[in-house]
Amino acid sequence: MSNWIDIAALDDIPKRGARLVKTVHGCIAVFRTGTDEVFALDNACPHKNGPLAEGIVHSNSVTCPLHNWVISLETGSVQGPDEGQVATYPARVEGGRIFLDAAMLDQRAVA
Ligand code: FES
Repeated sequence: MSNWIDIAALDDIPKRGARLVKTVHGCIAVFRTGTDEVFALDNACPHKNGPLAEGIVHSNSVTCPLHNWVISLETGSVQGPDEGQVATYPARVEGGRIFLDAAMLDQRAVA
């Protein structure tokens, strides 16, 4: 069962930017694309834990600020030739507000 939590206004995150959301399970990076889609991922690059929220958002991907790995915001997959995976979380926009699925955050805590 999902339990959507209102975490911010869409306009709190600049286009092609990100904001960190602190949860009891750690920081989640919430990204806004240039077309106002919103994605939530762990804020740690699978290479050497680079802070993805400080990366550059382009289309539906983010480039890690440390060594330029490119990660899909939709799937969390690292784009070739590099390999890796970042955990993603359900996120949606409704009425200009961003919601995260707290149930998914809880699931991760016991994984
Ligand atoms: S830590 Fe992200 S590319 Fe190295």
